[in-house]
Amino acid sequence: MPRVNIVCFASGRGSNVHALIRGIESKKIPAAIVLVISNNSTAGVLDIAREAGIPAKHISEKQFSSHDEFSKAMCRALDEARADMIVLAGYMKKLPSAVCKRFSGKILNIHPALLPAFGGKGMFGIHVHEAVLASGARESGATVHLVDEEYDRGKIVMQEKVPVLPGDTPEILAARVLELEHKILPEAVARMVKKIQDEPINQHS
Ligand code: GRF
Repeated sequence: MPRVNIVCFASGRGSNVHALIRGIESKKIPAAIVLVISNNSTAGVLDIAREAGIPAKHISEKQFSSHDEFSKAMCRALDEARADMIVLAGYMKKLPSAVCKRFSGKILNIHPALLPAFGGKGMFGIHVHEAVLASGARESGATVHLVDEEYDRGKIVMQEKVPVLPGDTPEILAARVLELEHKILPEAVARMVKKIQDEPINQHS
């Protein structure tokens, strides 16, 4: 069975990437994370990758003279890693459209709310949970969706709910949702890996 190569993008502490690493180690995900990319040179996710022996790269648009150069560098990094699919796990930037096109249908993102609610511009991190609480919603949850060139708009592939409880603060709700994220992201990634493995041709051995 050909190995599926996953490249993860993240901007922060990396607990979702760590959940994927655990999923691979426990054989729940029959794939390999071949590269972790962060736009933030001090992101904890880069340390998590390095500790797991996974190549980790800081790639930020600020390092390049143009968006086009940035896009080419990103595509080069993905080609060199022989990426088959991409996972965005708390990545605060937009992928260049060339990447979205090249990996169309093979890019997953995890969002800490029940999309399409509480998604889109400005809906990231603790702001999501603040908005959920302010809305009076009785439940929240996490969503894994395909990524197109807009934020949080792609087809939903997995979604599960958690209750909003009396006395919840944004931080308490965020922690409850994060626990669910660590469950559904590995499940959704495993499902996509198996789908790719069943594709007629997968060049990477
Ligand atoms: C997660 O809550 C994810 O839903 C959101 O960003 C956060 C990343 O957390 N997109 P971590 O870096 O995986 O711990």
